[in-house]
Amino acid sequence: MQQEKLRIAVVLGGNHSGRTGPVVSSWFLDRAASRDGVAVDVLDVAELDLGDGHGTSLESFSPRIEAADGFVVVTPEYNHGYPGPLKSAIDSARKEWFAKPVAFVSYGGMSGGLRAVEQLRSVFAELHVTSVRTSVSLHNAQRMFGAEGGPVDELRGAEDAVEEMFDQLVWWALALREARGRRPYPG
Ligand SMILES: Cc1cc2nc3c(=O)[nH]c(=O)nc-3n(C[C@H](O)[C@H](O)[C@H](O)COP(=O)(O)O)c2cc1C
Repeated sequence: MQQEKLRIAVVLGGNHSGRTGPVVSSWFLDRAASRDGVAVDVLDVAELDLGDGHGTSLESFSPRIEAADGFVVVTPEYNHGYPGPLKSAIDSARKEWFAKPVAFVSYGGMSGGLRAVEQLRSVFAELHVTSVRTSVSLHNAQRMFGAEGGPVDELRGAEDAVEEMFDQLVWWALALREARGRRPYPG
């Protein structure tokens, strides 16, 4: 029997005015598109009407989080954290996140967004979301992509990290989809 494709929602957390966000996202989404057995839904936080955020369900967001089997959050790092609108988007849903895995792609200056990712791990723990161990972090990301938006050098390490991250995400997404189908999550 052929298995239904895993639905992975990719949440783009960069701000509207961000310049690296679009090129990093497009680089990552190209890679995601080549994964077998995965259907990607792209949710761009910069396009959401967040209102006052916090706990207000967004028609354009929550149902798509509910429909997903797992998530990838793509985030920049600003002042050792992740952008505020991304937090408002995360807070706008609750049970829709439960018992699913999340993976991260981050970009920044020296730190490659690692501190933003560590903060997001604790936010998602509160939402009963399992975060996968391997993340993709792009250090000095502005310098990695040229005027045409493509990488200026081979991003071999980052490409390998994308594959490793996806292997872990898919494992968790399949395992948790089966588990949710067998018994309701108690959260
Ligand atoms: C206000 C601001 C704060 C920043 N803080 C950090 C930081 O704490 N750590 C880091 O590694 N990079 C930091 N950066 C660098 C950005 O993460 C980096 O330039 C990234 O490519 C920005 O992506 P964007 O162009 O899509 O906004 C900061 C940039 C700005 C504008």
